[in-house]
Amino acid sequence: MTAVTTTDLVVVAKEAVADEVVALTLAHPEHRRLPDWTPGAHIDLILPNGLTRQYSLCGSRWDAHTYRIGVLRDPSSRGGSAFIHDTLAVGDTVAVGGPRNNFALVPATKYLFIAGGIGITPMLSMLAQADLLECDWRLEYLGRSRRTMAFTEDLTGYGDRVSIRPDDEGGACDVAALLASIDDDTVVFCCGPTRLLDAVQRCCGGWQVGRLRVERFVPKVQENAVRDTAFEIELRRSRRRVTVAPRQSVLEALRGTGTSVLSSCGQGVCGTCETTVLAGLPDHRDSILDDTERAAGDCMFVCVSRSLSDRLVLDL
Ligand code: FES
Repeated sequence: MTAVTTTDLVVVAKEAVADEVVALTLAHPEHRRLPDWTPGAHIDLILPNGLTRQYSLCGSRWDAHTYRIGVLRDPSSRGGSAFIHDTLAVGDTVAVGGPRNNFALVPATKYLFIAGGIGITPMLSMLAQADLLECDWRLEYLGRSRRTMAFTEDLTGYGDRVSIRPDDEGGACDVAALLASIDDDTVVFCCGPTRLLDAVQRCCGGWQVGRLRVERFVPKVQENAVRDTAFEIELRRSRRRVTVAPRQSVLEALRGTGTSVLSSCGQGVCGTCETTVLAGLPDHRDSILDDTERAAGDCMFVCVSRSLSDRLVLDL
C-alpha cells in the first residue's frame, strides 16, 4: 500500500556498522536541500521491489543535504531489510516519503533514553539535541553483544552519560530496577524490540501519562475491535457519507469512494494516514498515540482504527 508523496533520492553511501546492520546515506540527485526534520523523525523508504518500510533518521539534523538511516536485517524479513542488505547498492535510487515525527523529544529537564539494539537509531539525534540544550540525560543502550550494537562510536564523546550494556558481558538489564532508580521528573524514551517495550511499559503502568514515550515499528498486538458491526463516516468537507463494513478498514472504505488519503504502512505504526476527527468516538487501534492523545479523540489513523460510535465525522 503506497500512496505517500515521495522524493527520489540516491544511495550515496552504504556501510556495515554492526553485525547485520548497514547504514545508508541518501541525497538528492541534484544535491538539493532535503526537507527539515526533528529528532525522533523517520522516513518511508519505498524500495524498487515495491515494499515500503519506515526507518528513523540517525544523522545530524543540521545536515540539510543527506539523510542517514540504520537498517537491521530482520531474520524474518518479508523482502524489506533483506533487499536493502543484499541488493540495494550505492548509486541506486529509492523513493522517500516524509520525514514525519511520531516520537518527538518533548521538553523536559531530565531524560532517560533506553535503546534496545537498532532502537538506538532515533535516539542518536535526540541525544545530540538534549546535549545541546544542556539537559540532564543518560542513555542505557542494551543489546545482545557489542558486535551487534551499531553506532557505538557515535556515543564515545558523551562519556559516562552513556552506558553500553551487552547481555553477554553483564547479563540482561534489570529494566524494573533501572526505572525505579530515576526521579519523578525524568521523561523516559524507549525504542527497541517489542519485548523490551512491553517490559518498560509494564513497569511504568502507574506513571503520569506522557512520562514514558515509546516508538514501535512493529504494531502492538491488538484486541478485537470493540465494535464488530458497520458504522458510518461523514466526510464533512466533501459532504459525503460512507458505510464501513464490519471487516473493512476506514481507509478501504474511503478508497472505495475515490477519497484520497495518504497511507504507507497500513499497520498503524507510521502515522501517514492521520486524519482529523470532528465528531464521534474513534476506536484507536494504532501503535502511535499515548493515552492522553487517545482520550482527546481528535485524530485517528484510518488504516487500522475504527469507531465506537455509530457515526464518525472526519475532516475530509
Ligand atoms: Fe501508517 Fe496508517 S498508513 S499509520
